[in-house]
Amino acid sequence: MTFPIERPRRLRANAAWRSAVREHRLEPSGFVLPIFVVPGEGICTPVGSMPGVEQRSPDQALELARSAAAAGVGGVILFGIPQHKDPEGSGAWDPAGPVPTALRMMRREVPELLLWADVCLCEYTSHGHCGLLADDGSVQNDPTLPLLSRAAVAYADAGAHAVAPSDMMDGRVGHMRGALDAAGHSDIVLVSYAVKYASAFYGPFRDAAESTPSHGDRRGYQMDPANAREALREARLDVEEGADVILVKPAGPYLDIIRDVRDSVDVPVAAYQVSGEFAALKAAAERGWLDERGVMLEALLGIRRAGADMIITYAAIDAAHWLG
Ligand code: PBG
Repeated sequence: MTFPIERPRRLRANAAWRSAVREHRLEPSGFVLPIFVVPGEGICTPVGSMPGVEQRSPDQALELARSAAAAGVGGVILFGIPQHKDPEGSGAWDPAGPVPTALRMMRREVPELLLWADVCLCEYTSHGHCGLLADDGSVQNDPTLPLLSRAAVAYADAGAHAVAPSDMMDGRVGHMRGALDAAGHSDIVLVSYAVKYASAFYGPFRDAAESTPSHGDRRGYQMDPANAREALREARLDVEEGADVILVKPAGPYLDIIRDVRDSVDVPVAAYQVSGEFAALKAAAERGWLDERGVMLEALLGIRRAGADMIITYAAIDAAHWLG
């Protein structure tokens, strides 16, 4: 039975049919908004390469968290920029640092919002790499693990609901789960950036987080964009180590990977629409070349359709309003 009997257009004829047969929907409760937190008070400094994104002191970060919650956004993920950087990134676990300070305020003032804390050393190290350096400049895996775990425990102590390691050291999920449990935080969710590619799309983030490596690049620990099968291995290892959620990053150029991971694990999958994906769409919209609302919602829907249960996006508040 085919044309003229079969006519797919029948089910597209009006808004009611289109809505009734719609296969995927975006919901603000699945969005997570990144926030860059700096020390101080009353600070809200725009990030040049990311229109509408700022570096904010904890009080200003709190205001943004309130707006996110009011729009129905499900959560926020905090990144910190410390006053001082050192070779081991000790600012990452300072309980008086910008991220723990903001977490304590948000936990008290916006209790309905899920608070995620990114765990990595690159914003805190003087060299900008995600772990401790050996004498030859390479990043040392095993000595980095206790430092990451220490940071995760500090964020859990401050009120994070979830910690999200983005460093790509091997074995950090298991190490961190053990450290959290030993510190009485067995209920803290561990979101693993299990599948994180060495991407050129992170450029604007490194401006925002002041985390560009001073030498070399991250290809010695982040994944090769050419590899798909390896993503399933990374995801499997992290689930075995105790990850509650597996994250794929970037999102838009890696929709095949999101689908593969979704089909191969039984935990929720999150995807990160990263700074460069956001900046590219924003820039084209500013020039009048693309319709911002249309392309942003379509890009997010594509990520959802590929299999992401949650999406980290700088457009979370706008998208929530557009959907509302
Ligand atoms: C830190 C980290 C990065 C991003 C999230 N966590 C940057 C990097 O690995 O250099 C990128 C996010 C974005 O581009 O929006 N390790």
